[in-house]
Amino acid sequence: MIKRIRSWWMQKDSPKPMDITKDNIPEHVAIIMDGNGRWAKRLGLPRIVGHHNGMKAVKRATIAADELGIKYLTMYTFSTENWKRPKDEVDFLMRLPQEFLAIELDELIERNVQIRMMGDKEGLPSHTLKAMEDAVQLTAGNDGLVLNFALNYGGRKEITDGMILLGQEIEAGRLKAEDITPTLIENHLKTYGLPDPDLLIRTSGEMRISNFMLWQLAYSELWFTDIYWPEFNEDHLHDAVAEYQRRTRRYGGLS
Ligand code: FPP
Repeated sequence: MIKRIRSWWMQKDSPKPMDITKDNIPEHVAIIMDGNGRWAKRLGLPRIVGHHNGMKAVKRATIAADELGIKYLTMYTFSTENWKRPKDEVDFLMRLPQEFLAIELDELIERNVQIRMMGDKEGLPSHTLKAMEDAVQLTAGNDGLVLNFALNYGGRKEITDGMILLGQEIEAGRLKAEDITPTLIENHLKTYGLPDPDLLIRTSGEMRISNFMLWQLAYSELWFTDIYWPEFNEDHLHDAVAEYQRRTRRYGGLS
């Protein structure tokens, strides 16, 4: 991991890295990327310009996370509720994964990033799904940072789908109700194989979870910032990680 951390750990002229201890980097960071629309509005620009600049912030966050040695980065890209937005905006959002991957995939592959996607594939336009699935397939063998896009994702739907699977196993006689454990439930969620987020970041000043990773955030540290997502850069990630490192995690026990 140390090798992956950028040389600024050692740079005396950089104020930021010293705030961070390299042996307590959150393994999994999840981000609710909020405020694209308000950022654009503040500048008198259409909302889609905010989303486009939000895409650029995804790149900055990915690189910063990789250089910090974060292993999993989950980005709330499109929720199951975002379909309620005007069609033009939804169409634009559905083109962003394609555009992002067309521009960034080569560099992500060079960085050994593994791309994952969680959410309902049904309902996604075929061009969005194909771009994502191609990237997932192309990077499946990479063992660097896992960049996990939550796309057409909702926490309640995820839990409901997991419960349906468990119910079907009970109906088929392969499982007894009393055999259900938290681990078994986890194994039926879309985050199967990923650790729970250690740190949740939400931008734009809103302080809510918005149906994101409802099961997995049970013991995550939460960090909120007033800045809008398109402004997010490596300094903000450093601030969030530095704050994370000042927290004491007790998981209901005593420190
Ligand atoms: C919420 O902000 C943001 C979204 C619903 C979309 C998030 C998507 C991106 C940041 C770009 C995705 C990038 C890739 C690589 C696929 P909002 O627009 O609802 O903000 P508002 O509350 O200010 O209106």
